[in-house]
Amino acid sequence: MLQAIEKRRAYRALDPRPIDKDVLIGLIKAAATAPSGMNNQPWRFITVTGAQRLNALKETLSPGNYWAKAAPAIIAVVTNNRWSMQLGERSYAPFEVGMATMALQIQAVSEGLYIHPIAGFNADAAKTVLDIDADDSLLVLLVLGYPGSEEGLSDKHLESEHSTRMRLSLEHIHAFDGWTQQMNPEASA
Ligand SMILES: Cc1cc2nc3c(=O)[nH]c(=O)nc-3n(C[C@H](O)[C@H](O)[C@H](O)COP(=O)(O)O)c2cc1C
Repeated sequence: MLQAIEKRRAYRALDPRPIDKDVLIGLIKAAATAPSGMNNQPWRFITVTGAQRLNALKETLSPGNYWAKAAPAIIAVVTNNRWSMQLGERSYAPFEVGMATMALQIQAVSEGLYIHPIAGFNADAAKTVLDIDADDSLLVLLVLGYPGSEEGLSDKHLESEHSTRMRLSLEHIHAFDGWTQQMNPEASA
């Protein structure tokens, strides 16, 4: 399983060829397996494949996400804190949506797809394109496609396509039995 999980990277070289509807539905089935407090299931997904909406959605992308214009499908991930448990300051909706989205991404990878979450888009404009209520949160767009040509990628993105994964070391994100100062991201190195 770890191998399957490690295969996921935020790649950008996408092929515009369409993705079968059954494959797209399989991704949502994977997402729907995620756990949630009181089984509230606060995740909502809109899979955008129709040319008119897809092109309109692409107009909302930040310039740095130019590469996503090749995508044959984009999944909008929507939630609202009101749709899940709220215990004092702890709003569980984003956590639960994150778990569902990770399952979705692993399923996409197992189908041979690239899947790349992005926050770089105009959320208000994208919500209008997709008829999402102004009060709900459009957290990310999941940009999808089969592996494609690297032509057209910036030098920076070309390099990233072949980079090794950058991650904090385990001591910075985990400890046994109690908090350590090393885990404080605000502590000076
Ligand atoms: C919430 C979120 C927002 C992101 N926004 C963007 C984005 O707007 N553009 C982009 O190219 N990548 C975006 N990424 C991808 C990250 O840059 C990428 O996951 C990170 O650098 C780690 O690389 P890896 O996923 O290949 O391990 C985003 C990822 C997440 C989870």
